[in-house]
Amino acid sequence: MITVKDNVFRLDTENTTYIFRITKFGHLEHVYYGSLLDQDDSADVMAQKSSVSIGSSICYDGSDKLYSLDNMCLEWSDNGRGDYRQSPAELKMPDDTFISDFAYLSHRIIDGSVPMKTLPSSYGGDQTLEITLKDTTSDVFLDLYYTVFEKADCITRRAVLKNESDDPLIIRRIMSMMVDLPDECFHMYTLDGGWIKEAHLHKIPVGYGMTINSSTTGSSSNRHNPAFMLASDIATEDHGNVYGFNLIYSGNHFGSAEKSGRDIVRVSAGINPHLFEWILNKNEDFETPEAVLTFSDKGFNGMSHNMHDFVNRHIVRGQWKEKERPVLFNNWEATFFDFNESKLLQLAKTAKSLGAELFVLDDGWFGERNSDEAGLGDYNVNKKKFPRGLKSFADKIREMGMDFGLWFEPEMVNPDSSLYRAHPEYAVKSPDKKPVLGRNQMVLDICNKEVRDYIVENVGRILDETGASYVKWDMNRHIAEAFSPAISNQGEFYHRYIMGLYDILSRIFDKRPHILLESCSSGGNRFDLGMLCYSPQVWTSDDTDPIERLKIQGGLSYFYPPSTMGAHVSQSPHQQTLRDTPLSTRFNVACFGCLGYELDLKYLSHEEIKEIKEQIAFYKKYRRVFQYGRFTRIRESRGKENKVIWQSTSNDGALALTGFFQTQAAAAESDDKLIVTGLRPGRYVVRTRPQRLFIKRFGGLVKHILPVELNPDGLVLRMANRFYSLTDCVEEYECSDKALKAGIPLKSQFMGTGYNENVRMLGDFGSNIYITHITTSQSRREEE
Ligand code: DGJ
Repeated sequence: MITVKDNVFRLDTENTTYIFRITKFGHLEHVYYGSLLDQDDSADVMAQKSSVSIGSSICYDGSDKLYSLDNMCLEWSDNGRGDYRQSPAELKMPDDTFISDFAYLSHRIIDGSVPMKTLPSSYGGDQTLEITLKDTTSDVFLDLYYTVFEKADCITRRAVLKNESDDPLIIRRIMSMMVDLPDECFHMYTLDGGWIKEAHLHKIPVGYGMTINSSTTGSSSNRHNPAFMLASDIATEDHGNVYGFNLIYSGNHFGSAEKSGRDIVRVSAGINPHLFEWILNKNEDFETPEAVLTFSDKGFNGMSHNMHDFVNRHIVRGQWKEKERPVLFNNWEATFFDFNESKLLQLAKTAKSLGAELFVLDDGWFGERNSDEAGLGDYNVNKKKFPRGLKSFADKIREMGMDFGLWFEPEMVNPDSSLYRAHPEYAVKSPDKKPVLGRNQMVLDICNKEVRDYIVENVGRILDETGASYVKWDMNRHIAEAFSPAISNQGEFYHRYIMGLYDILSRIFDKRPHILLESCSSGGNRFDLGMLCYSPQVWTSDDTDPIERLKIQGGLSYFYPPSTMGAHVSQSPHQQTLRDTPLSTRFNVACFGCLGYELDLKYLSHEEIKEIKEQIAFYKKYRRVFQYGRFTRIRESRGKENKVIWQSTSNDGALALTGFFQTQAAAAESDDKLIVTGLRPGRYVVRTRPQRLFIKRFGGLVKHILPVELNPDGLVLRMANRFYSLTDCVEEYECSDKALKAGIPLKSQFMGTGYNENVRMLGDFGSNIYITHITTSQSRREEE
């Protein structure tokens, strides 16, 4: 709810309050952002009390010696009026100075969200506050938008700059939002990494000066995700104040926290000013991307729950919103480029028999694409691989009872391609330097409408010809030598590239709403809210090693719900880490996302096939909870660092699925506890999901459990491993939600005394899933 009274703006969500007010000089003073306040709590009480004049400060107006912008908490701040903290904007004004002074002009409250003209934005907000500020000496206007999402406890903010003066205005920097928060010993938490190690959570103290989270690669990037948190140093997963920020944008971003000498922390988020310059002529306006803000006093999980609700309800749209995602099989890690139709049909047949619902044909189906050195940019089907064409192949997949999905990398071109030979000018390159390549490819200049039309036409044609119902949209290199002959000011390149991308995506997919789009950029190089406005899920990482995924999916889980994360079971030892992990753990991690399989199925043993069939059946049964349940990171009760515990709870609170993961075994470790939170009051049965223990895991140790001694490398044991497996320990208990919240001790782990069904056999990289279900008698009682 938005209320305005006596120059005070108050934005309430179900659990938070945000207050700011207009000062006597027309500036917007930030008053409060935090837990919900009473309606009677006034801005005068909650505001900073600046009752002394502070030495070496600039006084804004001689009539009030205490009014120094540098010492105030603000909603927006300008250059050249005495505030030395970083301004959200660096504008060369029409009068050729860098001095601006935006003051309140008017405001209005609008029902719902206000869509943007040039960028994707959230939708379904309750109310929007539009505040118009005007520069005190020119006809330059600044509209600030605040949209309130009451149930998700989120507020979005953005700015629109309008030039109504005769002379151009040059924007060198413009943030979507800034807010000044009194310091709470804040730490900034960011999601950083690189290829195959995306989104690892890092914590840095917010010290005096700037702490920055930004990207310069042309994408939101695998180096630094746009999302970040500020949390007091005493915050934990379940307690304490946590602020979360994100940006609905897929290009270069910039987020910062700047602590002033007065211990005020200025937070800002927006387009990265690096290599950015935008010329705004008379009557033009510039829209910044929308920034998302949330606050929770219930720790990191509380903040994540808000952001998850926001993404599921106000970002992901169209037919796939809140719809269960299919279990897919993707041929990439099984074949790479080395396939033909019959090899793929064999894989598809097995995938179908295991329970897959969608077959995805990955890279290599077009042009001369037999390696990553050629073919990108071309759309003619490779006739050697598909002699009867792609439609015939897609039809065969559908006849088997699966949907057909297809990979594209539309933003790229190989120099060795028909497209490049015909149109070298379509590639992004410096006008006079030798082009630089990444994965043997160049970026297409989608600032150019002709290039966009080429992509829209060709991708659309293939989609219609093949009847594909899923697309994996890949993008496998960073942008360098940003230059486009199609634009006159090269400072606009990066932003125009992203606007071009959004234009292409809307033109292709708006008219094909049945298609499930999974965005990918060498994995998670473009995992952001901008892409999620078009693609309901993102290929999280090329790294499918489950132990690495605990860090990657775990990191992303702070901001993005499991429904957005593509997660596949792949081969072990893993192709990037060489880590050998149990099949059970590969599934147990992947099921906390949109499940897929991506491995060569022809070498699966009899026992592995049985295991995978059971995994997929189990996933389908609980898919809604895994994809859309309340995802929570559970603290390990004794602070053990070798455990990761994830929980997804059904929306009615009567069912919880817990993933209990051991990253490394510790000798003779104390017993573990299972903690299940967020259940509705009642009696519950908790049970381990049965899973197989493969004999090969035990190596030479099997002699201790077999009546005869066998060569651990011999044929007999190898055969036995294909056709026989042991059962991992299954536990079952009945207790109350309270006992589960307190934590129930689990059976001991293996400690060298031999296998039996009452010993949990985790070792390195072992894991279990626990299903906690309200008892039938309890649910019957509730129904009566
Ligand atoms: C990178 C993707 O992340 C992989 O999954 C795969 O699609 C390859 N590209 C294909 O080139």
